[in-house]
Amino acid sequence: MSIPKPAGLGQADVTPRPVYLNRRKFLAAAPAAFAATRALLAPPALAATRLNIAAKSPFSTNEPLTAADVATHYNNFYEFGTSKNEPARNAQNFRTNPWTLSVEGEVAKPRKFSLDEILKLAPLEERIYRHRCVEGWSIVVPWIGYSLSALLNLVQPTAKAKYVAFESYWDLKQMPLARPETAGIAFPYVEGLRLDEAMHPLALLSVGMYGESLPPQDGAPVRLVVPWKYGFKGAKSLVKIRLVGSQPPTTWNLANAHEYGFYSNVNPQVDHPRWSQAKEQRLPSFFKNHATQMFNGYADQVAGLYSGMDLRKNY
Ligand code: MTE
Repeated sequence: MSIPKPAGLGQADVTPRPVYLNRRKFLAAAPAAFAATRALLAPPALAATRLNIAAKSPFSTNEPLTAADVATHYNNFYEFGTSKNEPARNAQNFRTNPWTLSVEGEVAKPRKFSLDEILKLAPLEERIYRHRCVEGWSIVVPWIGYSLSALLNLVQPTAKAKYVAFESYWDLKQMPLARPETAGIAFPYVEGLRLDEAMHPLALLSVGMYGESLPPQDGAPVRLVVPWKYGFKGAKSLVKIRLVGSQPPTTWNLANAHEYGFYSNVNPQVDHPRWSQAKEQRLPSFFKNHATQMFNGYADQVAGLYSGMDLRKNY
């Protein structure tokens, strides 16, 4: 992601492109090495809970899964540091129980949910989704959760509800790196969807991955996963969901509106201003040689949400 450059950095401070590219290749190859080092150096992580999966989902892809150790040690979670290996290290002792998720705004029945209520609100499904970051890497993850619509239907959106705003947990005591000066983005992390996008069955409220509760670095205890959009639309560690009448502000759009739009649908034909989106690096591969699919391969299900819209303008 592009962090706005802190004042005082001049052209001479810019890393030469070949060095930068090599560093990225190194980082891409490094997850397994990071995992091994972490096991040696880190304090024991909070225990993960095995989740009872009631059903496998027909929405799952049969592409090979990314190894759990890779997917859970190559993260974007700026509240715990901006390098890919930092969240797994820095979020180890993140307290996620007790937890409250407040669902409010334009709804007939606003409600605060405990973690236990969230876990029991609908049968847990395993959904194997492609996960494509706007930066160009991708993974295939067996998420556990249920359609966000199950939760939204419970609170009964009113006729005034047109969008859904999401807010992540933010606490400087537990997240000392979560400052705009350090991370380059504003906090709390906020995201949004149009109501019809949020009600689409593919939009997943996730409480786990790889058979267990979410590790802290992946957004414990509850996060959003929107598989046809770039990964940054999936806000982690959710504390608030607010139904609203107009398009809500979103973190990366606030940081750089020219590069990150509200819609952010995966689209191999619309390049990021600084790189092509035609191909992706399927971790743990070194190479960006995997073709990116329209809507990340979910066009049959979601293209109808955008009929008549100019996806170049609404990037
Ligand atoms: N949510 C919060 N609260 N903070 C973040 O920094 N990063 C986003 C998204 N959700 C982010 C977040 C980005 S850029 C991506 S690609 C995904 O989380 C990464 O999810 P993963 O680390 O589980 O793969």
